[in-house]
Amino acid sequence: MTVLQDSPFVRACRGLPVPHTPVWFMRQAGRSLPEYRKVRQGIGMLESCRRPDLVTEITLQPVRRHGVDAAIFYSDIVVPVAAAGIDLDIVPGTGPVVAEPVRAAADLERLRPITVDDVPYVDEAVRLLVAELGDTPLIGFAGAPFTLASYLIEGGPSRTYLKTKAMMYGAPDLWNALLTRLAEITLSFLRVQVAAGVSAVQLFDSWAGALSEADYRRYVMPHSSAVLRGLLDAGVPRIHFGVGTGVLLEAMGEAGADVVGVDWRTPLDVATKRTGPDRAVQGNLDPAILFAGWDVVEREARRVVEQGRAAPGHVFNLGHGVMPETDPEILTRLTAFVHEISER
Ligand code: CP3
Repeated sequence: MTVLQDSPFVRACRGLPVPHTPVWFMRQAGRSLPEYRKVRQGIGMLESCRRPDLVTEITLQPVRRHGVDAAIFYSDIVVPVAAAGIDLDIVPGTGPVVAEPVRAAADLERLRPITVDDVPYVDEAVRLLVAELGDTPLIGFAGAPFTLASYLIEGGPSRTYLKTKAMMYGAPDLWNALLTRLAEITLSFLRVQVAAGVSAVQLFDSWAGALSEADYRRYVMPHSSAVLRGLLDAGVPRIHFGVGTGVLLEAMGEAGADVVGVDWRTPLDVATKRTGPDRAVQGNLDPAILFAGWDVVEREARRVVEQGRAAPGHVFNLGHGVMPETDPEILTRLTAFVHEISER
């Protein structure tokens, strides 16, 4: 087991005392970095995820540049469903696009269970990274069943999730069969990463905020819970994140998370009342703040650190991913600033 138990990041996830508030940024690897754009030239997104040399380089780039407290594995939430047999692509500027959307029971046959042999490049890249990263922890991740289902059913990104909700409410047996399969694939994908040495995992239910709490608990939570509880014996902190999930924070914690990711809409002192004394929080600076000038960044980062003190543990992050247009120098400066003001 290579879990870096003594790192500030893992300690904060567990609610233990830390020398400073640990920092990382969702989407820290990627288009905000010129060195990323350079190595990706002429190489498709999915292809880049299947090349351990590139995955390693791209994952390390933001660690070298910003001095963040954790690396996040470079991949995408649709990588395991592609490995399971779904024909899809990641279209620049759009996101995942599925050739034949999943709409009927027969379509489920295109979602086979996966093992490490379906994603050997993930196993290899995690091992290379753990060796390169030394005492910086690596975060593994996967998409949660609801968010994955939304891409498979809609066929691509959506604003309303109409077809997704139509299946959820109108064909609950098919819905549960689909989410059960997705939960199995997701759990296998995370287990591959844990076996190869990641120090934590994050389950991204990015679009769960489209649901009421009652419907989340009824149609989604059992499946996310199967993934998170399936990792109970893995010995790594489990982070559970979504956008616009203020009313779901309590349920998302109960689903089996050690850390609940919070977007910028809910202050961390309010969030921790909902997630309770047994869970750490992660977040939650609005990614748009990074465009408002350094004085505003300082003021808002200070507020996030202060509000984070109300929780048993706090991992500093943005409320959602780094925007591609972000000036990377601001992220470097912000990392140092959060370390400085939180030093104890
Ligand atoms: O630094 C990191 O966070 C690690 C890598 C990472 C990527 N995708 C790489 C990526 C992670 C953690 C993800 C997760 C992911 N992918 C999520 C959950 C996080 C979130 O943002 O809520 C979701 C919903 C996806 C699906 C997806 N993939 C979208 C919406 C997009 C953006 C489409 C676009 O071009 O604007 C992608 C593509 C993607 N995934 C890119 C990267 C670096 C950009 C593609 C490129 O560089 O060509």
